Amino acid sequence: MNAHVKVWGVKAGDISPLIYGHFIEHLGRCIYGGVFDEDSPLSDARGFRRDVLEAVKKIKCPILRWPGGNFASAYHWEDGVGPKEARPQLLNYIWGGIESNRFGTDEFIEYCREIGAEPYIAVSLGTGTLDEALHWLEYCNLDTPTKYATMRKKLGHPEPYRVTYWGIGNEVYGPWQVGHCSAQEYAEKLRQFATFMKYLDPSIKIIAVGADDPDWDLTVLRHAGKVIDFISIHQYHGSEDYYETVAAAYYVEERLKLLASLIKSTRMEHVKIAFDEWNIWYQVDPEKEAQEKGVVYLEEPYALKDALFAAGIFCVLHRLSDVVGMANLAQMVNALGMIKTQKNALVLTPIYHVFDLFVNHTGSVRLGHEVYTEYYAIRAKSFLGGRSSFALEHVPYFDVSTTYDVARNVLAIAMVNFHKEESCEVVLDLSDLPAAKEATLFALTGDIYAENDFVHPNRVVPVSSRVPLSPSFSLPPHALWIVEIPLEKKIL
Ligand code: AHR
Ligand code: AHR
Repeated sequence: MNAHVKVWGVKAGDISPLIYGHFIEHLGRCIYGGVFDEDSPLSDARGFRRDVLEAVKKIKCPILRWPGGNFASAYHWEDGVGPKEARPQLLNYIWGGIESNRFGTDEFIEYCREIGAEPYIAVSLGTGTLDEALHWLEYCNLDTPTKYATMRKKLGHPEPYRVTYWGIGNEVYGPWQVGHCSAQEYAEKLRQFATFMKYLDPSIKIIAVGADDPDWDLTVLRHAGKVIDFISIHQYHGSEDYYETVAAAYYVEERLKLLASLIKSTRMEHVKIAFDEWNIWYQVDPEKEAQEKGVVYLEEPYALKDALFAAGIFCVLHRLSDVVGMANLAQMVNALGMIKTQKNALVLTPIYHVFDLFVNHTGSVRLGHEVYTEYYAIRAKSFLGGRSSFALEHVPYFDVSTTYDVARNVLAIAMVNFHKEESCEVVLDLSDLPAAKEATLFALTGDIYAENDFVHPNRVVPVSSRVPLSPSFSLPPHALWIVEIPLEKKIL
């Protein structure tokens, strides 16, 4: 298998730092027993797991979405503020188990400050009201001598939290959602929520629920496009078949492009895409899990193949940097988590390592490139046993992203070889750039089905080395490589 890549020393776009975002939901052990565990010897005085904090800081989480997901649609924020002993214990009737409310708005904001992330709050359109959303916004962002801003101050937080990102509802297009409604109904509610929330705080950015369905998305864009800043799309994939799993990144690319064209056709180009839930989600059936255990945990195993899907997603998001403004992996810890915890230990899945490599070793300026490679066609079943099947004619065996880190004056070339057996013979033309003779290579590969677990936490980990820069080389099968090449002078 072959690939030819020519990199141009020309800026092709800016990549939003928010594409490396995460999501935590009151689901299984994501928050309680994951990011927040008051009973763990590994937690700090606030109940934050120190090992999780350290891992999340390393991948510089830029934005964190909370409290759901489906959970958000039945969440009342006032249950989660005030003295902890006085907060109500409630049934989590979305995912099962008991919601202690010990992790609420103040804890979430404290967590975001600690990891350096922008908070992104999703308000309820299920059992919640506009009034409640406005009060939440007042509590978080206002400095007025009014009830909810005063409540925050009295609870020991004199400065407003300045939460910029507010999502209006979650997946209300689906019958599984509390607050399920039609596109028309949603678009009108959205218009009202966005208008009045921006009236309270004009600096906020609003994320609308998109449905990955042109009828829904056009209705939302036409009716409320002027008052929103983002429209969302959610995608989960994963199949027993290796190629079906990795090819899904290119199905995602088609769906993102379709949404971008709807934005363009309605002349709402100020609206960016928030790809605010994405991941591999295998066959675990939430309803069955709830029946058997009373609680949904969704603790999916992730292997190298899932990490290659994630690497494909980042190549796609780099390519679509003009239209995608944000993305959030669903989710951060335990439930569909890229980090797994036990009381005394933590495991970083291969997906975590893809975040580490892209966040820490690619730049934010996209450089132009040309690529010639080989393709395959696929008809695939995906997500929960075939609920979305797709057919694609041009799935690349090889993908590449070329970026420039202006501050470090480094060219970063991320390359993925998805081929199961064959190496990819890469010819790299850097004649347009003042490239140094030596580079640093970060490689992630191994057995396609290899997972990191509590017994073998390091089966799949990145390996770095110094290498001489060569115009042609062999990229091993099923591997991600990121090559960092210092430049001899600045190009931008
Ligand atoms: O991430 C798990 C769930 O998937 C979220 O709660 C929901 O929004 C989506 O359906
Ligand atoms: O059955 C669970 C729901 O189904 C998920 O929350 C949603 O994403 C999926 O389509």
